[in-house]
Amino acid sequence: ARNIIIDTDPGQDDAVAILLALASPELKVLGITAVAGNVPLDLTQKNARIICELAGFPDTLVFAGCDRPINRALVTAEHVHGKTGLDGPQLAPPTMALQDQHAVDWIIDTLRAAPLASVTLCPLGPLTNIAMALQRAPDIKPAIAEIVLMGGGFFEGGNITPTAEFNIYVDPHAADIVFKSGLPLTVMPLDMTHKALTSKARVDAFRAMGTDVGRMTAEWTDFFERFDKEKYGSLGAPLHDPTVIAYLIQPELFSGRIINVEIETQSELTMGMTVADWWRVTDRAPNCTFMRDIDADGFFALLAERLARLG
Ligand code: BDR
Ligand code: CA
Repeated sequence: ARNIIIDTDPGQDDAVAILLALASPELKVLGITAVAGNVPLDLTQKNARIICELAGFPDTLVFAGCDRPINRALVTAEHVHGKTGLDGPQLAPPTMALQDQHAVDWIIDTLRAAPLASVTLCPLGPLTNIAMALQRAPDIKPAIAEIVLMGGGFFEGGNITPTAEFNIYVDPHAADIVFKSGLPLTVMPLDMTHKALTSKARVDAFRAMGTDVGRMTAEWTDFFERFDKEKYGSLGAPLHDPTVIAYLIQPELFSGRIINVEIETQSELTMGMTVADWWRVTDRAPNCTFMRDIDADGFFALLAERLARLG
């Protein structure tokens, strides 16, 4: 199995991503590192533990990381995810422990002990923890097989400002460090996630599982959809973060281009914009695979098949 670290700010879509990873034997989740994002850190680390317990994996290592971006005040997204970050179903507090070590220290220790190119990083929130680890310990780079992250958007525009996607906007300086790291990078932007929207049939497939995981996933999705339906008048919502995990399992569901993407860190107007050289009009060196298309039916079929494996 492929070793992965999930860095996350749950978030209903983060929750589905974590469930998908834990349900998939192709992946070994070495640990989950929480970061401040959709809601503050004390909630994201707690939510990560709730999700692991729901999945039936209470032995998963969960760490709390950075409680604010490198260089800016924290911006949160309760308007999308609700007060707890996981609004929707009633949730009991987790009983499994939070690890004592700081997430950034654990990422560094784990990568220092890992063989060459043996760990894939899966950031699903602002990139603060990952950037801090890379900056403090550049010697960890050889252990990283690749980084597959959800963030950014180009043709679709932004979802937190007209030009910025939330994860990149919250910590653009961290994103800049990651995009300039020279590491193999795959990006799941809004351009692609907005092509795989939830629908009644797709959510009913979760509900029909008749398990706690199926019911919670349906209730999370119901809550999460409300925002897009009301705000954009769309019929469903993109489940952004599980695309990262789906890509590791079934890369053929996705297509994009290897291009240069730079992060705006100066202008308040366009702060956090992912400036994507899709048409290759510059001679800037490509630094990532920027996805643009997804087989939406294949993606939701994978989610339904895998989540049904959990209790
Ligand atoms: C991203 O921001 C968060 O609200 C979601 O969890 C996702 O990671 C989408 O812009
Ligand atoms: Ca997220």
